[in-house]
Amino acid sequence: MTHQLPKLSRQEAERRAKELRRDIRGYDMLYYVHNRPEISDAEYDRLFHELTDLEATFPELIAPDSPTQRVGAPPLDELTKVRHDRPMLSLDSVLDQEEVRAFDARMRRELGTDAIEYTVEPKFDGLSVELVYAGGKFLRGATRGDGTTGEDVTVNLRTIRSLPLELQQDEPDLPSHLVVRGEVYMRLDDFQSLNRRITERGEEAFANPRNAASGSLRQLDSRITAERPLALVCYQVMAQSGLPAPTHWDELIALARWGMPVPIRRRLCGTLEEVMTFHRETASSREQYPFEIDGVVVKINRREWQERLGEKSRSPRWAIAYKFTPRKEITQVHDIVVSVGRTGTLTPLALLKPVDIGGVTISRATLHNADEVARKDIRIGDTVKVERAGDVIPAVAERVPISGAQRAETFRMPDRCPVCGSAVAREGAYYYCTAQAACPAQLKGAIEHFASKSALNIEGLGKKTVAQLVERGLVRDLADLYQLTKEQVLSLEGFADRSADLLLEALGRAKHVSLQRFLMGLGIRQVGQHIAGVLARQFKTLEALMATDREGLEQVYEIGPEIAASLESYFKEPRNRRVIERLETLGVHSQESADLQAPEGQPPLAGKTFVFTGGLSRLSREEAARRVEALGGRTASGVSRKTDYVVAGRDPGSKAVEAERLGVRILNEDEFVALLE
Ligand code: IVH
Repeated sequence: MTHQLPKLSRQEAERRAKELRRDIRGYDMLYYVHNRPEISDAEYDRLFHELTDLEATFPELIAPDSPTQRVGAPPLDELTKVRHDRPMLSLDSVLDQEEVRAFDARMRRELGTDAIEYTVEPKFDGLSVELVYAGGKFLRGATRGDGTTGEDVTVNLRTIRSLPLELQQDEPDLPSHLVVRGEVYMRLDDFQSLNRRITERGEEAFANPRNAASGSLRQLDSRITAERPLALVCYQVMAQSGLPAPTHWDELIALARWGMPVPIRRRLCGTLEEVMTFHRETASSREQYPFEIDGVVVKINRREWQERLGEKSRSPRWAIAYKFTPRKEITQVHDIVVSVGRTGTLTPLALLKPVDIGGVTISRATLHNADEVARKDIRIGDTVKVERAGDVIPAVAERVPISGAQRAETFRMPDRCPVCGSAVAREGAYYYCTAQAACPAQLKGAIEHFASKSALNIEGLGKKTVAQLVERGLVRDLADLYQLTKEQVLSLEGFADRSADLLLEALGRAKHVSLQRFLMGLGIRQVGQHIAGVLARQFKTLEALMATDREGLEQVYEIGPEIAASLESYFKEPRNRRVIERLETLGVHSQESADLQAPEGQPPLAGKTFVFTGGLSRLSREEAARRVEALGGRTASGVSRKTDYVVAGRDPGSKAVEAERLGVRILNEDEFVALLE
């Protein structure tokens, strides 16, 4: 974006840059530390761009701590090891109430008093870092490593938006030297969209947000880190010049005043019962947190007492991690079966002796692929640790060796598809069934995908119905769906007159679909929602896309050789061409919808007003509003004739009804996200 900068003298530019940096820092602090944004994202971006433009005109004004410098630096050969001034300790963890009581009893005994206060706060599940500030400016930062030696990740940390590059210099007690400890983590929604982006590019997804945060922070190329949605929270002053705060509670308040993000949910507890209550409340709201927490940390509040209690070799005596019931449990593998996915990939699955993990009974877990089974050496009858992280499907994390146990033979992938018996081919670690749509498993998967919410969104076409349609031979490819008769639908289990009509109507409605959804629905390898959107915007029609060869496809930004090859081979396959032709003959029209096109020369959502109702699952309301504003749109709280879109999430309220009455366009969450993209 370019702004018409008034011609400024060097001096004026310097003054304005200073002003902008101060303002941006202030807004960052309001946003990240106090969770209380005061200006819209659009306004923030305007200030930010003004600063970028100024710095482009007067490069000598660029300061390393300017908010614009969070873009990453040239790659390093390796991360430098750094020795911590003082060891970065770990925490002893306990799982049940008895152990917490024992900890409390020990504290009373050793301190010789019953008047103990604890600060309790969530235990963030990320990776621990140490940050050094000199003269209020961020100087360097390192990972915890083994506690004694960590890695210098200064350039990577600089890219994290919630990490203040400069602290609030106007706070009189801001120490000139300050070492802070905190946690770098990734929000669950950011983690999921990162994984979507990664897998769409054909790369392996991160197993959980912690690995994603760690992998992103420990990058040699900080430009990659800059694109990763990392966040920071700080929870301890390790060292400082001047007088330290008398209590941990005061320390957190001071950190926040100085501009650091600190745990927002925390509590000062005068009794052990209050600690228990905080633990219970936090555990039951765990799923509502936008990031992963795995317990609460209980800390003696008074610093003097912390010092009196001292530390052991690896952990302080004055704090414990009171963990939640783990999402990792031990159980046995009853059997290993192989499932066939919609693209034909064979996935080994462990059938388990049912086990409760964080309130959910798990009886099967993925083993990912043949290489993983071999690496972890998992066999039938083994004892294993099973993990459930965030929204990720449960996975077998590792084998628990039992000495003297008789073990079954090593697992081998089958030569024939376990569903249709066709030949199995291999591609790296992946095995797949070669039968494509002739394999019922792949056909079912393909139809479910085609009908899914982010593709054609065909209501009433769920898993059970699809299974029956395929097993009775009523549907042999996607086009057959549109030739279903009412009699055929009525012959299925679970359908009566009205529900049959509804399904046929839903199919009829799904004939008019955006090109993005249609492409996404075809289930072409490597073409997920995002890439489908890129292709739709570029080519506008299916014909144009199909007429483009591999080289032409590769010219498109974001389309790499693998995606191009996948598209080419998909559209070359006569069977796929036939299905597409038949779909068209049967009246399925896909076109990049006109209202998704941006008018020339204006931000894409300029002049559009959005109202939200109901819960969103892929992004938060705040984030949704921010993105609308970033594209030039507005958000409002009430529906009127002037509203352009009502975004209806889960359990939409009366606003959706009002929108219908006024004839305002209603988008579901997927449509909304597609519009943003
Ligand atoms: S205090 C001397 N507070 O948990 C110990 N640690 O299992 C200083 N962690 O390595 C740590 N949330 O990375 C503290 N609110 C919190 C925390 C927290 C997460 C991590 C920290 C530590 C690990 C110990």
